[in-house]
Amino acid sequence: METQGIKYTGSKRKILPILLELVRPLNIRTVLDGFSGTTRVAQAFKKSGHTVYTNDVAVWSKIFGECYLLNKKPASYYQPIVDHLNKIPGKYGWFSESYGGRPNSGSAVEKDGKKRMWQLHNTKKLDAIRDEIDNIAKNKIERSVLLTSLILAMDKVDSSVGHQVSYLRRWAPRAYNTMKMEVPRLIIDNNKHKVYQKDIFDLVGDIEVDLAYYDPPYGSSNELMPPSRVRYASYYHIWQSICLNDKPKLVGVANRREDVGDTVSGSIFEEYKKNLDGQYIVIEAIKKLIENTNAKYIVLSYNNNGRATFGAILDVLKKLRMKCSILEMDYKKNVMATMAWTNEWLNNTNGKDSRNKEYLFLIQKAKTNIINSNFEIKKINTLELAAVHQRELGFK
Ligand SMILES: C[S@@+](CC[C@H](N)C(=O)[O-])C[C@H]1O[C@@H](n2cnc3c(N)ncnc32)[C@H](O)[C@@H]1O
Repeated sequence: METQGIKYTGSKRKILPILLELVRPLNIRTVLDGFSGTTRVAQAFKKSGHTVYTNDVAVWSKIFGECYLLNKKPASYYQPIVDHLNKIPGKYGWFSESYGGRPNSGSAVEKDGKKRMWQLHNTKKLDAIRDEIDNIAKNKIERSVLLTSLILAMDKVDSSVGHQVSYLRRWAPRAYNTMKMEVPRLIIDNNKHKVYQKDIFDLVGDIEVDLAYYDPPYGSSNELMPPSRVRYASYYHIWQSICLNDKPKLVGVANRREDVGDTVSGSIFEEYKKNLDGQYIVIEAIKKLIENTNAKYIVLSYNNNGRATFGAILDVLKKLRMKCSILEMDYKKNVMATMAWTNEWLNNTNGKDSRNKEYLFLIQKAKTNIINSNFEIKKINTLELAAVHQRELGFK
């Protein structure tokens, strides 16, 4: 399943085939991608014929959503516009001033002591193209297609470490290349998709879908980084500035937007503190989210790099008393396992053999009388067995 996106912490590109296969037996038509980020998950569901709603607090994710979900015009319509944008001469503007640096015999550190994200020849093109997009785009969707193309092109020549709170000391080899826009890989169909840019809690009460896919941030377990910096808005602030073109006041060594600076609080899903009961606040938020969602099924993505432990998520699911099948993916060993929650399982593996694994919790929203029982763990290597497991649990 080919999808398109920027380099993104937590991108679910690799698990897309598994996710699609996991929900295939469930007769799903409408899907909410509630924390859509790159929109790769939404693109994959659209490509497999579903009606998709995306949502993310990030403006650039909305722009990507409008490009991949809402655009109805073919690539041939955009090609001449993209050719024109690639040809216009660069100019020194706000982006060059803030993020452009000289080759400096390989060093990306400028005279002010700060490292830069791009080389000047590329930020000059960015400055010129960004303004021209507002001049020539005929409507919102067209603008979103062109902005997506611009962001994808700039992502290919950056000199970051994968996010935008620090840049490399020596230029990445790709930074010497010249950025070149291409028409995004558009997906055209007749379904009525929707794109939202809201806090998820402001949305879930208002929509109903067959499947809600949730891939929240879960905070960070990186003890060395100030939590305020380990936030999505902070990590990808330049994409926001490119979309808004609002030339905001900048702060700190990475020239971050002031509105994502260390003193501005982030999403509740990025909260690293515990509540008075000693439970991570993010876990409380996940429980509330599952409860408030109007969907037949929810798939919750989880990996062990965040603060919330696997056991804490299992506890939430136990309290909610909903049927749940859990798929565990270990890329390195290429093993998958599916299981239902159980104390036995918890005691066996919680916190031990669980680093660097991805999980998909498939939850049937209807409440059941299941409180707990000793489901055994099933090591599997095919998704057919995941479907068998769903049948055993009585998923319809
Ligand atoms: C792990 S990433 C999602 C990655 C995405 N599945 C992908 O494949 O690209 C989490 C996303 O949640 C968004 N986010 C954080 N808090 C949110 C909230 N309260 N409501 C909606 N989106 C939120 C962030 O902007 C970020 O894009």
